[in-house]
Amino acid sequence: MGESKKILVTYASRYGSTAEVAQAIAAQLCARGEDVDVRSVTDVTDVSPYRAVVVGSAVRMGQWLAPAVKFVKAHRDALSQVPVAYFTVHMLAVDDSEASRQKRAAYLAPVRAILAPRHEAFFTGKIDSRQFTLLDRLMTKATGSVDGDQRNWQAIRSWADQIFVN
Ligand SMILES: Cc1cc2nc3c(=O)[nH]c(=O)nc-3n(C[C@H](O)[C@H](O)[C@H](O)COP(=O)(O)O)c2cc1C
Repeated sequence: MGESKKILVTYASRYGSTAEVAQAIAAQLCARGEDVDVRSVTDVTDVSPYRAVVVGSAVRMGQWLAPAVKFVKAHRDALSQVPVAYFTVHMLAVDDSEASRQKRAAYLAPVRAILAPRHEAFFTGKIDSRQFTLLDRLMTKATGSVDGDQRNWQAIRSWADQIFVN
């Protein structure tokens, strides 16, 4: 019964902000009447029960987190059988300039090379350096990131409304 199958929303998150974005996407899909599981990529062993899969990751030093890339690699064959959507949560290169667009695209390029998605989105995330390890605090300072929660819940919900519609 393909019609009744669930959607999986799976994510990799270092400090929790991407996990909360995943929860918001799942809640919005539920509001649309979908049956949804939301899980960390490290807790998913089988994607075959799902009719569609959303995969999201935070960006760290210009890349998706390794467990998220590993997930797409490990499940590539099964994922190629269903519609897939990627979301990326990050703090730099968030404006509409061509340079920023290219930077964002570069974050996702290695993942797209494994499997091209039907949908993709980039969302601004959150920096709360009080949570960070000392090294992470220094690295984010060095890249010019400032503390703040920049998540745009309206943008996140409206993307969730658009994905996997027929
Ligand atoms: C060590 C570190 C490196 C980061 N590197 C980048 C980066 O290269 N580009 C970017 O746009 N954001 C970068 N960020 C910002 C994170 O992607 C952002 O804070 C995100 O919301 C974190 O998600 P999480 O709470 O799920 O871990 C970095 C954050 C940290 C802590």
